[in-house]
Amino acid sequence: MCGIVGAVGHKQCSLVLLDALKRLEYRGYDSSGISTINKGAIALKRAVGKIVNLDAALTESPLEGDIGIGHTRWATHGGVSEANAHPHVASNRVSIVHNGIIENHREIQQRLESAGHHFSSDTDSEVLAHLFVEAFDSGMEPAIATQQVLAEIEGAYAFALMAIDYPEMLIVARNASPLALGIGDHACYIGSDAIALSHLTRKVVYLEDHDYALVRADGVSVYQADGALVDRKAMIVAASPGLVDKGGYRHYMEKEIHEQPDAIGHSLAAMTDENGHLTAQMPDDALRAIDGVVMLAAGTSHYATQVARYWVESLARVPVACELASEYHYRQPATKPFNTAIAISQSGESLDTLMAMRYAAKCGMNTIGLVNVPNSSIAREADTVLPTRAGPEIGVASTKAFTAQLTVLLCFAVALARAKGHIDNSQASSIHAKIQALPGLVGKALGLFDVIRPVAHQLSSVRSALYLGRGALYPLALEGALKLKELSYIHAEGFASGEMKHGPIALIEDDMPVVALLTADHLMGKASNNLREASARGAKIILISDAKVAKEVDYATSVIAVPTIDPLLAPILLAVPVQILAYLTAVEKGTDVDQPRNLAKSVTVE
Ligand code: M6R
Repeated sequence: MCGIVGAVGHKQCSLVLLDALKRLEYRGYDSSGISTINKGAIALKRAVGKIVNLDAALTESPLEGDIGIGHTRWATHGGVSEANAHPHVASNRVSIVHNGIIENHREIQQRLESAGHHFSSDTDSEVLAHLFVEAFDSGMEPAIATQQVLAEIEGAYAFALMAIDYPEMLIVARNASPLALGIGDHACYIGSDAIALSHLTRKVVYLEDHDYALVRADGVSVYQADGALVDRKAMIVAASPGLVDKGGYRHYMEKEIHEQPDAIGHSLAAMTDENGHLTAQMPDDALRAIDGVVMLAAGTSHYATQVARYWVESLARVPVACELASEYHYRQPATKPFNTAIAISQSGESLDTLMAMRYAAKCGMNTIGLVNVPNSSIAREADTVLPTRAGPEIGVASTKAFTAQLTVLLCFAVALARAKGHIDNSQASSIHAKIQALPGLVGKALGLFDVIRPVAHQLSSVRSALYLGRGALYPLALEGALKLKELSYIHAEGFASGEMKHGPIALIEDDMPVVALLTADHLMGKASNNLREASARGAKIILISDAKVAKEVDYATSVIAVPTIDPLLAPILLAVPVQILAYLTAVEKGTDVDQPRNLAKSVTVE
């Protein structure tokens, strides 16, 4: 996490750096800072809290200088304080911003402290600044100094550095954390992603792992780990809206919930070939060769994989394992039954997911990256890309990206099933038609805000809630509980409703809210029995289902009903009221909906 930016050759660069940081605030918002070189000295401004605080500090006393670096932080090592905010300056000569974790920072710090270096923060990052001071003191030129520093550090990093001795350049490097270099007409820039630079340039060079670069106003020199110059081609990235506005909505999350008909429709279009058939972006032969799929993801994206498992297994008869990316490659999994890995990530940058995908590739699997951000690390490394077209998702809580992921995964399952001969063209077309109807149904479900508001009002005063679902709605129960806890800080758990009797039912007491997800599938009778068992023990059942199912339920305290839907697609449509309920509960509680405490949108540390 954390966002880093830099500029060289841009007059009064602190202003464009501030703009760039605002575009990266989704990566962390504990504290932020900018430093420049002005009249031969390092000038520094840092502020705790969101970037508006840095903005205010800069307005009060602007920073001059045409070379600078900036940072927005998500704390890993060291608490949230101005001293721990980046940039970190060593010996008044070197200033650094860093995203990632330097895992061997303790040993390095001890070594440097015994050599006389004085540290002023509790971060792992500060060692980088001191290592460069040490390298420059021993007479090394920037490229050689960088090579030496990189040889000593372990962990994930993207960093940018300025030195008083070399005021015409930024020194940057990356390993497992993203970094883009922007090439302007008379200036160059760096940013954690191209969106940060979209107000400055669309010409971008992406560094690869272990690359480092010297960035000057008139261009960049990129080196590989062995010190050899390497030609990393510049690409023109698609015009990005950069700072997306709230479009009249109170929160980005509310806007993004409303954007779901488009997100689903555009994602479906991306999975439709020129003949109007669903495609998985690969030839039928390649699809037929898939004999087992491991799905790698984190958080909400992981819950999307768990829904997709039901589709891929039931339609295409292909075994699926859904793996938490942060666990997968650390347990030496038996990979034999799987020849394909799908890494699912809104950002395309979650380091856990990227690492898991790399492991799968190393084991010989074909990799598919299902991402919302084109040119993200996962998109660039995967063998095949399945795009979601949800558009930029700014709210930390994933909404439209989730339903877009589900749409693409359902299309994938249908294309796979058809290629393998488990469904015929007419069955595929029939499911396709149902997916085509989804944007309209989601549009209708968006009319539920007023129905849900009083339910959210009641939910906002409880300490704990349960979400129950069965079959493909079980992962949606997990997702609902995640949405509620991350947004409103109410403790919530999701369970497979059939599991309640094996333990969790002990949690039920009078008036406990239980959000029940129900659809008219083959499990409806059993799921209803499970819900009655909870109701009989005092639970208040908040039913989220379609209109037809709602008519059959007599045990609910509150009913939130979407238009009647084929159970196959229910996880997508029912996700909408689940999101609205969490959103409105958070609004009732007055929490920071778009930037909940302790979180960041893009998680680029392990
Ligand atoms: O960008 P990714 O999809 O890889 O992010 C994975 C999770 O961090 C993410 O889904 C997170 O759980 C959601 N923002 C929660 O709403």
